[in-house]
Amino acid sequence: MARILTGIQSTGTPHLGNILGAIKPAIEMSNNGDNESFLFIADMHSLTQIKDGSVMRENTYSVAATWLAFGLDTAKTVFYRQSDVPECAELAWYLSCYYPYSRLALAHSFKDKSDRLEDVNGGLFTYPMLMAADILLYDANFVPVGKDQLQHLEMTRDVASRINHQCGEELLVLPEAIVQADTQLILGTDGEKMSKSRNNFINIFETDKALKNTINKKVVTDATPLEAPKEPEGAAVFELFKYVATAKQVEELAAKLRTGGYGWGHAKKDLLEALIEVFGPAREKYNYFMENKNELDKVLDEGAEKARKVAKATLKRLRSQIGY
Ligand code: ADP
Ligand code: TRP
Repeated sequence: MARILTGIQSTGTPHLGNILGAIKPAIEMSNNGDNESFLFIADMHSLTQIKDGSVMRENTYSVAATWLAFGLDTAKTVFYRQSDVPECAELAWYLSCYYPYSRLALAHSFKDKSDRLEDVNGGLFTYPMLMAADILLYDANFVPVGKDQLQHLEMTRDVASRINHQCGEELLVLPEAIVQADTQLILGTDGEKMSKSRNNFINIFETDKALKNTINKKVVTDATPLEAPKEPEGAAVFELFKYVATAKQVEELAAKLRTGGYGWGHAKKDLLEALIEVFGPAREKYNYFMENKNELDKVLDEGAEKARKVAKATLKRLRSQIGY
């Protein structure tokens, strides 16, 4: 049985792109396979960017509530907060001492972030070692990640082989990255890739009223008058509708727009209704968890307890080799 592990940063409430592109496929994978999965909220990585404790706490709850609302089965997946496993920080230190500074200096993600961000802290620089620790601590075999994380996986394998070589035994398991090539690219309210930084995202957990407002204000349409026929393909509102409506509903909306006498405002109303209908149960569960955070704490604490057992065993092997 293989062990699959992945982490998600807690940098805000997950948007429609995160949910359809990453969360739902990952849940299907972990609920259906025979594999053992570890899934954690990378809140120590988030600390490189978020310094406000109440924002950090709220983000972590929001991410946890989203995964549970979309059906993550915690009987099959060890689900925890990274910060609840202090062994991770300990391992990250050991790894840093075994890894050349010159290699860390080659990380693309550091270069990219140090060009963009105002707060370029030491944590950003050693980020790959913390990520390697996340993975090596649990003897993970497979790590599903986006393409941008492949170099971090290479660094993880590199530091693990250096340690194995030094010890003369296979003390750490070398993980393999899984890049999901066919994950769907979800477009945002302006027709470009949906992302937090572009501010073109849809937060499905807003109230109905706020969601309506978002759709009316943010979804970009052209100025074709109501009576005129319209081309649905490529219009942001229609592309968004396709993610949530049935094939029949999509066909009907396309026909109405092409005939004319049906405005973009009508299409936006259809989009809002479809979102509310499709995500109704998940929104209800999300709200339930956000109002009962003690339940989130309970689930995450239980996950951390399971994770720490594995983590402690790995550290024990390593500490003895180091000479502690
Ligand atoms: P953002 O770009 O909004 O900051 P992240 O980089 O935090 O999102 O992405 C978290 C996860 O969601 C990643 O696995 C990423 O591939 C996925 N994801 C983000 N935006 C989209 C999108 N528009 N379509 C599909 N998947 C996405
Ligand atoms: N760095 C990853 C990202 O930004 C998140 C992450 C942290 C991670 N630790 C991990 C992913 C371990 C996989 C395995 O998306």
